[in-house]
Amino acid sequence: MAEGKQVEMPRVKLGSQGLEVSKLGYGCMGLTGGYNAPVPEEVGISIIKYAFDKGITFYDTSDVYGADHANELLVGKALKQLPREKVQLATKFGIVKSQPTCVIVNGTPEYVRSCCEGSLKRLGVEYIDLYYAHRIDTTVPIEETMGELKKLVEEGKIKYIGLSEPSPDTIRRAHAVHPITALQMEYSLWSRDIEEEIIPLSRELGIGIVPYSPVGRGFFGGRGIVDSVPPKTYLETHPRFTGENLEKNKIIYTRIEALAKKHGCTPIQLALAWVLHQGDDIAPIPGTTKIKNLDDNIGSVRVKLTKDDLKDISDAVPINEVAGNRQLSEAFEKITWRYANTPPPKDYKFSA
Ligand code: ATR
Repeated sequence: MAEGKQVEMPRVKLGSQGLEVSKLGYGCMGLTGGYNAPVPEEVGISIIKYAFDKGITFYDTSDVYGADHANELLVGKALKQLPREKVQLATKFGIVKSQPTCVIVNGTPEYVRSCCEGSLKRLGVEYIDLYYAHRIDTTVPIEETMGELKKLVEEGKIKYIGLSEPSPDTIRRAHAVHPITALQMEYSLWSRDIEEEIIPLSRELGIGIVPYSPVGRGFFGGRGIVDSVPPKTYLETHPRFTGENLEKNKIIYTRIEALAKKHGCTPIQLALAWVLHQGDDIAPIPGTTKIKNLDDNIGSVRVKLTKDDLKDISDAVPINEVAGNRQLSEAFEKITWRYANTPPPKDYKFSA
């Protein structure tokens, strides 16, 4: 599927405010570490440029990726070599610190503004296309966070507003202050919790969905099965990639592998094609540090699936058979802690 003539990259609209992106985006996070060692800067830049040449124009970063904002700095350098007006650049604010057992979040208006100024500088741009709250600070009314974001839109510093991992109630309240263009949510064959409430709500309100970890952090490419989990990475302790859980999850990979053979594509292409087929309002952002894998992912756009195919693929990954939580810490809005000069106490337990 990866070979042959250039894949025609479709474009989709996210939200109802005018944002148009390539159907397949690119998650830049891994370029500065996380699931692997950081790649050399010139490699990172060349992958971003390669993606652009293949029709991918939607790039995702965050101020919290990489040490000392390394990811935004890298993306900024790559952008210098691309036509700005043809790129849709997304970044995020809000995670002050991310630790295995807790995530410290800040959504105060002053913090929102200072983060935006910082990101604009590091990225070397005059505006951010899509600016997300990376996690929701439940100690600040969402109306206050949104009020500041709205001002940033009015000032032309950001074009569109997004939220990552909000609850349905937060989405409704935020959308009432200023239209939300996209929700960035974990969504893949083995993480489907947004199907019940979040996707129907986003369709009701006309909000796009940007699935992160759409290839299950590499699981559907055989990470942990065909090749081992890279040492000293987040995956070494991830519940789905370790111990008995990984053993149980292997059966899921084997089923997808068999279905992929039937469709004449790779397992990861099938998993990504499944996400791509979930609607015209969905634009996933798989990440990779390798051109070969990027080509593989781009090839998923060519995989055509019928309703019956989609059902067979969904049925091959029954959610109750997936072993392990989707995240290391359940880092969602109900369990955030706002950074207020002091970090959370050592024995602070996030409620489930
Ligand atoms: P996230 O959104 O959290 O970055 P993801 O996009 O689901 O997660 O998965 C990213 C991981 O999938 C990366 O570790 C990447 O590994 P490489 O950098 O080695 O490519 C892996 N991955 C992405 N595409 C892949 C492919 N086609 N084959 C194998 N692994 C792939």
